[in-house]
Amino acid sequence: MNIVVFTGAGISAESGLGTFRDADGLWEKYRIEDVCTHEAWERNPQLCVDFYNARRRDTLAAQPNAAHIAIAQLQEAFPDTRIITQNIDDLHERAGARNVVHLHGDIRMLRSSINETATVPLEGWEQHYGDRHPDGSLLRPYIVFFGEGVPYFETACNITATADLMLVVGTSLNVYPAASLLRFAPTTTPIYFIDPGEPLFDQNDLRIHHIRKKATEGVPPLVDKLCNHLPL
Ligand code: APR
Repeated sequence: MNIVVFTGAGISAESGLGTFRDADGLWEKYRIEDVCTHEAWERNPQLCVDFYNARRRDTLAAQPNAAHIAIAQLQEAFPDTRIITQNIDDLHERAGARNVVHLHGDIRMLRSSINETATVPLEGWEQHYGDRHPDGSLLRPYIVFFGEGVPYFETACNITATADLMLVVGTSLNVYPAASLLRFAPTTTPIYFIDPGEPLFDQNDLRIHHIRKKATEGVPPLVDKLCNHLPL
């Protein structure tokens, strides 16, 4: 069975990493225009570097939670399971997940300023602004800024089109094109949406089963049922 898992900031909330649009979210504390657009990078690259250094430091201090761990166990039980995340943290990987598709970047990497997929790993939490990529351009955080293309979106769509079952965890579905991913799941594919809030999915989409629980409460029992071939 092809299972596709699609996650957002909510899955990492119980690991202590802020979401973006909840009451105390990151975009309540910082302006997107100052730290997460190409213009922001051009105008004040040091502020962008400082912002993502702080995100990276928080990520290194965080631990995967029961939801991350359950999803890695799901992938063990069903090796064809694919994980697509909007998150830049590495908590899926640190929980044991493999081949995670990061739609919006990866906090562990830096990228060339002239080639969106030319990445280099970063040791530790701190990028020093001014360091250069082997291609000679200034290194920048490997983050998809608002208004930039999402290099792996087509890959994510192709993966989602093969889903026999989809788990969506902790995303408000506010940001496109990522939010449109659900449309690429076959019309017969059940979608279990685990989120205590009210994400912006189509209420008429009969494929969606909304489980109004936090990730660590909703994901493990669902994974247990799947691994034990019990009805959901
Ligand atoms: N468990 C599950 N879901 C949770 C939890 C939790 N403990 N806490 C919050 N949530 C849900 C919220 O109800 C909300 O639906 O997580 C979602 C968080 O939504 P956003 O903050 O908008 O995060 P996300 O959907 O991942 O944002 C998408 O926006 O800013 C960009 O690039 C950034 O990847 C990000 C994208």
